Amino acid sequence: MDQAPTHNLPDSSQRTGSGQKQRILSGMRPTGKLHLGNYVGALANWVKLQDKYHCFFFIADWHALTSDYADTSEIKQSCVEVMTDYLAAGLDPQRCTMFIQSHVPQHAELHLLLSMITPLGWLERVPTYKEQQQNIRDKDLNTYGFLGYPLLQSADIMLYQADFVPVGEDQVPHIEITREIARRFNGFYPRDATANEPEPRRAYVFPEPQALLTPSPKLPGTDGRKMSKSYGNSILLSDPEPVVRQKLKTMVTDPARVRRTDPGNPDVCPVGDVHKIFSSDETLEKVYAGCRSAGIGCIECKIWAADSLMRVLNPIQERRDAYEKNPHKVWELLENGAGRARAAAETTMQEVRVAMKMTKDSRVLGHQSSAKVQKVDAL
Ligand code: TRP
Ligand code: SF4
Repeated sequence: MDQAPTHNLPDSSQRTGSGQKQRILSGMRPTGKLHLGNYVGALANWVKLQDKYHCFFFIADWHALTSDYADTSEIKQSCVEVMTDYLAAGLDPQRCTMFIQSHVPQHAELHLLLSMITPLGWLERVPTYKEQQQNIRDKDLNTYGFLGYPLLQSADIMLYQADFVPVGEDQVPHIEITREIARRFNGFYPRDATANEPEPRRAYVFPEPQALLTPSPKLPGTDGRKMSKSYGNSILLSDPEPVVRQKLKTMVTDPARVRRTDPGNPDVCPVGDVHKIFSSDETLEKVYAGCRSAGIGCIECKIWAADSLMRVLNPIQERRDAYEKNPHKVWELLENGAGRARAAAETTMQEVRVAMKMTKDSRVLGHQSSAKVQKVDAL
């Protein structure tokens, strides 16, 4: 297995001077084992970002509570599974910081402070809010926490002073509201121009983060709908080869190709989408030509698709095996990551407390404030 670290990691969270890398933060809710859609839509891209940016990738277990608060029994195990898949996909704990949200209590502190300055209307108009409240009928989502989902996400992003947030299209409104909240915070609480701080001087605590839209090609599930755990149509990163082959066998195809002799069109076929993402140009050409001329059958085409898929999944599963056998190692890596994340988070929170004039430093108590204290005593 490559890159399996066995020792404690150096603290790379210190921001050192102006030559520092820009920061990236992203995360996923703990949904258990990840599927190909998660890989193509996020993880594969995160792996590429690791070296160019200072990256934080986390598992949003508090976000899971915003809707699944009634039964928390599986959250922890799901976190371990997500981390195992992060590692399997090639995220390297030596090159990025991975952790569980609730292990960094500063997320909660910043969320609380931001809640004080966030107008209710901003939260109510986030598109996913009303949509999900209407669509998800089996849980009561009429809670304070659910309304605050996007704000907790803003706190996640701002806590690491992230410049970029790699996400899919559906998350863009959440980044937008984060920018608005950052702007509002900076407006109320600019940094103290007289503070004695190392370069580079920033006038504001928070950068306005930008969405980094993941160039994600369409990858449907086996039934042709969007791949999603809740639809039961997904291929997992951890599915053994026979399962992958079986799932591909049952995948829907171009509905116009009823008989073997009917020509088809890979552009309207979910198996065609799999080829476009995972197959070589050479195979792709054979698929287009063979499908359109009815020269190949769907069974053969699906075998080729499974071959291409397994070429990508094999190294992932090799890495995965080692971690899967050792969940304590996975947990230890999460704890190391949380330590580094806490250090970065605490640096931001110190800046926040200074800007908000809410530090614990007693030296700033002036005459005015002691006069107030006396008055209170006299009451
Ligand atoms: N809302 C994201 C999702 O459902 C998960 C998430 C939580 C997140 N906090 C974040 C993503 C911060 C990016 C940045 O996928
Ligand atoms: Fe789809 Fe391949 Fe069949 Fe064409 S030959 S319809 S691309 S499975």
